[in-house]
Amino acid sequence: MIEVFNYLLIFITVMLLIILSMVWPPDSPWSPWWRTNRKTAKAAGRLAKIKPSDFVYELGSGDGMFVITAARDFGAKAVGIEIDPVRVFISKIMVKIFGVGNKVKIVKSNFFDQDLRQATTVFAYLVPRALERLMPKLKKELKPGTRFISYRYKINLPLVDQDKKNELYLYKIG
Ligand SMILES: C[S@@+](CC[C@H](N)C(=O)[O-])C[C@H]1O[C@@H](n2cnc3c(N)ncnc32)[C@H](O)[C@@H]1O
Repeated sequence: MIEVFNYLLIFITVMLLIILSMVWPPDSPWSPWWRTNRKTAKAAGRLAKIKPSDFVYELGSGDGMFVITAARDFGAKAVGIEIDPVRVFISKIMVKIFGVGNKVKIVKSNFFDQDLRQATTVFAYLVPRALERLMPKLKKELKPGTRFISYRYKINLPLVDQDKKNELYLYKIG
């Protein structure tokens, strides 16, 4: 009887965690369901016209799907910066599975501590509060002409292009 109760408790806890993770803010390490799928990553690459000479950065790279797509489908070199060790681990495995280890680097770090000056294209799927906090860093470090793609949320810069269907917004650093 106690054993059944224990299993029930574990089941309820797991279900609660899954439900919580779905409503948690998307820039939290506890929000596994907020991710960019391969179709959207491809659409983002097309919108930003990513090419093999590009150096792509993703701020909060999650399971790595965007950086993998930038390398695999558009031939770019890419760096994913991710703070959550579980996602870093998963994305490193994904990079191996997709065979893009020669082009993609995953860095376990807070993106506020990383130098972004090498980037020619930056992708982020973060909540507006985090994007706002990032603005001074982006303006300080990114070269004029660097493309910035935001998924789902707009930022306070003039919009260059958008893919409404996929909720992708493209900006250029002035
Ligand atoms: C909404 S998820 C998006 C994940 C991935 N970019 C995607 O589109 O699939 C946001 C990600 O940003 C990460 N993150 C949030 N704040 C961060 C920070 N300061 N430095 C690095 N990663 C961060 C979270 O751990 C999470 O993986």
